[in-house]
Amino acid sequence: MAGAVFRLPGVAYITGAGGTGIGAAVAKAFARSGCSRIAITDINKKSLESTRDAILEINPRAQITSRDGDISDEGFVDSLVAGISKSFARLDYAVNCAGILGENLRSHETKTSAFDLITKVNYKGTWLSSRAALSQMLQQQPLSEHPRQRGAVVNIASQLGVVARPNAAAYCASKSAIINMTRSDAIDYSQDEIRVNCVCPGVIETPMTTGSEEVTERLKPAIDIAPMRRMGTPEEIADAVLFLCSPQASFIQGHALVVDGGYTIN
Ligand SMILES: NC(=O)c1ccc[n+]([C@@H]2O[C@H](COP(=O)([O-])OP(=O)(O)OC[C@H]3O[C@@H](n4cnc5c(N)ncnc54)[C@H](O)[C@@H]3O)[C@@H](O)[C@H]2O)c1
Repeated sequence: MAGAVFRLPGVAYITGAGGTGIGAAVAKAFARSGCSRIAITDINKKSLESTRDAILEINPRAQITSRDGDISDEGFVDSLVAGISKSFARLDYAVNCAGILGENLRSHETKTSAFDLITKVNYKGTWLSSRAALSQMLQQQPLSEHPRQRGAVVNIASQLGVVARPNAAAYCASKSAIINMTRSDAIDYSQDEIRVNCVCPGVIETPMTTGSEEVTERLKPAIDIAPMRRMGTPEEIADAVLFLCSPQASFIQGHALVVDGGYTIN
């Protein structure tokens, strides 16, 4: 079960927290780790409510800010994070999970609108959300539990930001962009005691990968290439995320932590 190991007493903010995917697992893992002020967002209002209920089941006294909206909308993101800062007076851990996969097509078959949508949600959305969180983190002092950490940002990239696969150029590029944005921000905010890292999941059992038979079939070769020959679970990704947010990761900066059952070494 993700989230019983680390103690994370600050305020957490998680995007893409709806449904049963990685974001929801991260939100629940924070709740299990002693984090009782949690802000969640997703474009899917209904599934976001399920995550809210699940957090309250773990900790009935948790204070939760839950707002649905589009992570690629600058106005929404800025007002969301301003609201979190107002409610909780700080923001310690920002985890950017919202993302989309896209169709199984080569570049010459891909419409500009499809490219734009992936880039807007995955890359721009992560940047907007990370930027808003960084602005708040700069205004606060470290918690006594994290003496040298004013804040921690964890962006969710992908193994496909490290290596490529057929028919996914726009997606792969959006995830590579997240990895190098993470490194760049890590350089820029090190002196402010903010750590910025990313997690690169392999194939994980979530609605994104199991939502349709076509996608499940498409991903089968990727599961077979990985030495561990199975899908990972959202909880295994949440464990990596919580580690990167925790004081145990205090000297880890700008890292892209691959959690992929060995896919990228094979
Ligand atoms: N599942 C995998 O195998 C896998 C592998 C590598 C990386 N990832 C990445 O992990 C992240 C989480 O994906 P997941 O597997 O949990 O899938 P998921 O579909 O369960 O979660 C993605 C969430 O993002 C939300 N979302 C989509 N567009 C949005 C928008 N415009 N604004 C706000 N929210 C939006 C969705 O509603 C959904 O709840 C994504 O960034 C994905 O690219 C997933």
